[in-house]
Amino acid sequence: MSIQWYPGHMNAAKKKAAEQMENIDLVIEVVDARLPEASTNPMVDELRKFRQRPCLKILNKIDLADPVATSQWADFYNAQDGVTAYPMTTKKPADVARVLDLARRLAPHRSVPTKPLRIMIMGIPNVGKSTLMNALLKKRVAKVGDEPAVTKQQQKLYLDKNTILVDTPGMLWPKIALPTDGLMLAASHAIGSNALIEEEVAVYLADEMLRYYPDLLVARYGFKEIETFDGIAVVEGIAAKRGFRQKGGDFDFEKASHTFLGDYRSGILGRISLETPASRAERLAAHEAE
Ligand code: G4P
Repeated sequence: MSIQWYPGHMNAAKKKAAEQMENIDLVIEVVDARLPEASTNPMVDELRKFRQRPCLKILNKIDLADPVATSQWADFYNAQDGVTAYPMTTKKPADVARVLDLARRLAPHRSVPTKPLRIMIMGIPNVGKSTLMNALLKKRVAKVGDEPAVTKQQQKLYLDKNTILVDTPGMLWPKIALPTDGLMLAASHAIGSNALIEEEVAVYLADEMLRYYPDLLVARYGFKEIETFDGIAVVEGIAAKRGFRQKGGDFDFEKASHTFLGDYRSGILGRISLETPASRAERLAAHEAE
């Protein structure tokens, strides 16, 4: 399958991120809690370690992720040097409200008016960086009442007098370490996919759900004897249930794939993670052995 890849943008992003890293105290890295490693760009770690910057690793969209897998990932990242994991959803104001406190704890030598805490939010597309930034800025509006919400100064946003947010999220492209990373990223909509790829992604997702979440497929689509299904049968089954047929009467696989992926992305199917620390380790080992 062909994954879109942008080496030119990647180099430019790395250069910019390296420059910005000099002038910040803390990285807030946002990843998708359903696929934390596939949605991580190792460059964040590389750059922040080089500058010895701590990282608040936000496992975002926990409203869509399997809580058991999310808790395993939190333990996994908390065991890493300089990293604090924070599973959250930008949909919950109470979750957003904790972000700044956690950030301050990671860089206690800053957070005074003469030495404000300088934060940069980094991550691959579509993990929720802008939503988080906007939510943090909104919180500021709510707190300070009639003061101007945002003081723009040299492209920095003051969240309060002790905290600066670098105003553009550091956008990075995913590094696709494993072939399944591309499929996970496409399933979660972090990378775009054309119709052909969408069918492949739908079959991949169906296979994963058959393995780990068959009950959720049954609950949503009312399948009988799901133990006899493979991924293709799931997508065909959706086409059959929804009456998606082409002119000649064949199943409209493309439309069923699109519907299935839409159901996954919206969370209608349930809380579904696409990897756990154990499944990731297994896949990496298998890939290395190839
Ligand atoms: P980015 O800056 O990292 O690129 O991401 P952005 O904030 O634009 O968010 C991407 C999508 O993810 C948005 O949906 C946003 O509403 C959604 N999102 C962000 N945080 C959460 C969360 O905690 N839970 C859920 N369920 N969704 C979240 P969108 O514009 O509708 O895009 P899409 O989902 O159709 O791709």
